[in-house]
Amino acid sequence: MIKLTAEEEAILRGDHGRLQQKALENIVLYAEALGAEELCKVTKATLGLGAQPYLNTIQSDDYNKIFSRVYMCTDEILDINNNKFSEDCFCMTCTENCDTDDYEEVGQTQDFFEKNKAFLEIARRAGVSMGSTCVPYLIGWLPLKGEHFVTTESSNAMFCNSLLGACGNPDGIEASAWSSICGRTPKWGLHCPENRYATHEFRIECKADTITDWDVIGYTIGRLLPAGGLPILTGDFAYPSTAEIKQLFATIATTSGAVMCHILGMTPEAPTMEIATGGKGVVETIAVTESDYRQSFDMLCDAGSSEVQMVSLGCPHYSLEEIQDVARYLRGKKVKTGLKLHIWTAYPIKEMARASGHLAVIEDAGGRLLTSSCPIMVGDSVVKGVKGVALDGAKQAHYIRSMSDAAVYYGDKFRCLDTAISGKWSR
Ligand code: F3S
Repeated sequence: MIKLTAEEEAILRGDHGRLQQKALENIVLYAEALGAEELCKVTKATLGLGAQPYLNTIQSDDYNKIFSRVYMCTDEILDINNNKFSEDCFCMTCTENCDTDDYEEVGQTQDFFEKNKAFLEIARRAGVSMGSTCVPYLIGWLPLKGEHFVTTESSNAMFCNSLLGACGNPDGIEASAWSSICGRTPKWGLHCPENRYATHEFRIECKADTITDWDVIGYTIGRLLPAGGLPILTGDFAYPSTAEIKQLFATIATTSGAVMCHILGMTPEAPTMEIATGGKGVVETIAVTESDYRQSFDMLCDAGSSEVQMVSLGCPHYSLEEIQDVARYLRGKKVKTGLKLHIWTAYPIKEMARASGHLAVIEDAGGRLLTSSCPIMVGDSVVKGVKGVALDGAKQAHYIRSMSDAAVYYGDKFRCLDTAISGKWSR
């Protein structure tokens, strides 16, 4: 039996309208299924919205019908056009299936692009802010210590739990929508302090000096972490930078179900091993060796060399600093004719890159700065006709294999940029 506050009882009675009532009904059912005994107030949310391809199963362009059936899980048609998401929860869009401005560059149709815009416009009018990124923490969506959030992006959940001390689980797009509307989520998983303790120590014995190293280390930790484990990193390494942490957390969440990771002495809930483990100690210590690192690298990067038709950078989305690295490297160089160089970021960051002069340098070289999506979210159309692709994000290198038969090459951004210039990946 879920314990509800007076405010929650009022929402369930329908005092705040049918949409909020239905959202809370769903959250209560969800909480019961999870065995949660109460709900917690959610003050930040990121949501998967727009024209997601699986919405086509409803075979309708009526967004009220689509939203009711898919997001709210009901045959009753709820009116999203005249309703608001929770005013106490800062709701922002997660990555979408389209770039903000262009559809031809990624092989999509104008119809799909316009439909995506129309669906997002309905969400905007309902109170959802347009951020459309997997790195909302870089553009002002920033839950702090003890704050409860929901998100559809696992790498975001990992970053906010681990580095910021905020509390949240990655949810499906439906549960995130319910929470965004009624401002509540079941108190379970990482919303509960007792589930935030480290269980597995990962002693880093391999190189840990670059962004790519941390990307591969995260991928390796995820591979070696037993199900249900929560890692803590120890070893003789310099604390990773923001860009390195971004990669580390994205890849742990790619190869495992973990959505929190402590770094001893660095992250807020791990000042000591004793505090990080709740005084219980870890159940196992696992070394990450050079050999583990090499094995992961070989899983991510195909052997040999070949012509490459596409280079895609920015998984998770690039920060302004990473875009600056690219612009500095590309200044005075030219991308091979016919090769697509895509650099993915959030559109507020693209505007900063424009104001900083980086966008002009990248475009002069023949690259494109794209926003709000990525090859995985765009889907097959972006890799159509591509026989070789080079990427600097292990998460993307991992997933793109299921979308394409292309050779997949993985390496640091400068090696990928050299490939964009020469048109060939060389081992
Ligand atoms: Fe972001 Fe797409 Fe990578 S959503 S984390 S760029 S797979």
